[in-house]
Amino acid sequence: MKNKIDQLKKKIIDHDFTIGVVGLGYVGLPLIVEFGKKGFRVIGFDIDQLKVDKLLAGESYIEHIGSELTTRLLNTGKFEPTVDFAKIAEVDAVIICVPTPLNRYREPEMKYIRDTCTSIKDYLQENQIIALESTTYPGTTEEVMKPILEQNPSGLKADQDFYLVYSPEREDPGNKNFSTSTIPKVVGGSTPESLELGNLLYSQIIEKTVPVSSLKTAEMTKLVENIYRNINIALVNELKMLADRMDINIWEVIKAASTKPFGFHPFYPGPGLGGHCIPIDPFYLTWKAREYNFPTRFIELAGEINAKVTEFVRDKVVEALNSKEKSLKGAKILILGMAYKRDIDDLRESPSLKLMELLEKGGAKVEYNDPHIPQIPKVSPMRNYKFIRKSVPLSSASLAKYDLALIVTDHSSYDFEAIVENSNLVVDTRNATSQIKKGQEKIWTA
Ligand SMILES: NC(=O)c1ccc[n+]([C@@H]2O[C@H](COP(=O)([O-])OP(=O)(O)OC[C@H]3O[C@@H](n4cnc5c(N)ncnc54)[C@H](O)[C@@H]3O)[C@@H](O)[C@H]2O)c1
Repeated sequence: MKNKIDQLKKKIIDHDFTIGVVGLGYVGLPLIVEFGKKGFRVIGFDIDQLKVDKLLAGESYIEHIGSELTTRLLNTGKFEPTVDFAKIAEVDAVIICVPTPLNRYREPEMKYIRDTCTSIKDYLQENQIIALESTTYPGTTEEVMKPILEQNPSGLKADQDFYLVYSPEREDPGNKNFSTSTIPKVVGGSTPESLELGNLLYSQIIEKTVPVSSLKTAEMTKLVENIYRNINIALVNELKMLADRMDINIWEVIKAASTKPFGFHPFYPGPGLGGHCIPIDPFYLTWKAREYNFPTRFIELAGEINAKVTEFVRDKVVEALNSKEKSLKGAKILILGMAYKRDIDDLRESPSLKLMELLEKGGAKVEYNDPHIPQIPKVSPMRNYKFIRKSVPLSSASLAKYDLALIVTDHSSYDFEAIVENSNLVVDTRNATSQIKKGQEKIWTA
């Protein structure tokens, strides 16, 4: 065994190791770029032929990756995007980055992980490292992946013939201070050998890896990080709604509290949670906790508050319109920012979608502008919403046409001074207009 491990380690260190990445999305593509930069041969697998075709043409479909990078990668001749899973037989490591959403009952949807394991098991080879990066509940790698992979035709057994690793992704799209290689990466393995190999593999592209004692520990670490964020955002959202009732500016309070040099970490309120991770991941733990007869009350409460705050924004819109003797029914509203956060092109779980639905339910006519999202796709990644809309142009004249502009995402390209000047009413959910001198009487904070 020792000899076998040493040989694999040497291949990794020599970069004579082919990496297969399954799921060419927000997580998979940056990983491929990093392995590609270090000279590894990389095969990218997806079931989406459109994505594969784009990559074969050197095009990127993720704004912050950019086509220049994907073209460069393709030109190395060491990157091959494909839908052909038979090529799993050619790789030394498989890194799985497929979606882990919630189903309609808000339970973990494990279909994508299961389907992936089913697709690769027939081509599994001795000594392969199989690493999962998708966010999931503790136990997934051992309880869901392992039994499917062990149904391989060659009778290969985990921990003996192939190595199981879990290493969660910590990508923060749009954050210019960190990139895939500079964000420390937690790694867990099913055995000390799996951990050693997984850790060595990731250290080829990541500056600092953080090995932990088990797969479960690594799986739980990712959930704890996101639950911490989810709950703190819920807390500050609840305090925002109370502060509003008490006529206190919560943003000023947070700024003041942040001057405390210890024991306080600022979180900021907003229109509701968005993104593929923070609103969803905590419920993976809630579901698993039921097996242990353990109610996760903090998570449930945070979920309630984070949903309520979107309704609070809708109510503010109604209040603002009423102040001008107008009703929501028939009002023309422009949503500014469809993406779930500033300067990105991702609208998964975006509160803008929920707000669009709530406002239209109340009879408003809603349009949107987002420089990063020219169109809401036909098959929305949100899965629950079926809007097909195009971003409308933004100009002084176009703003004046609407009864109200609702700032949901504070993209840095927006000129908020011009937005306030040319709008009839503004509801601001991001504190984007607090420094604007002229037109404060038109602004409602929500
Ligand atoms: N996006 C982020 O910032 C982020 C951050 C941390 C963790 N994560 C986690 O990483 C995982 C992937 O997220 P993402 O944002 O990259 O998703 P994504 O939707 O951008 O990409 C997933 C890709 O997997 C492909 N896919 C689906 N089923 C497949 C299958 N059976 N075989 C092969 N490919 C398949 C899809 O076509 C898609 O291209 C999720 O578990 C997510 O929670 C995401």
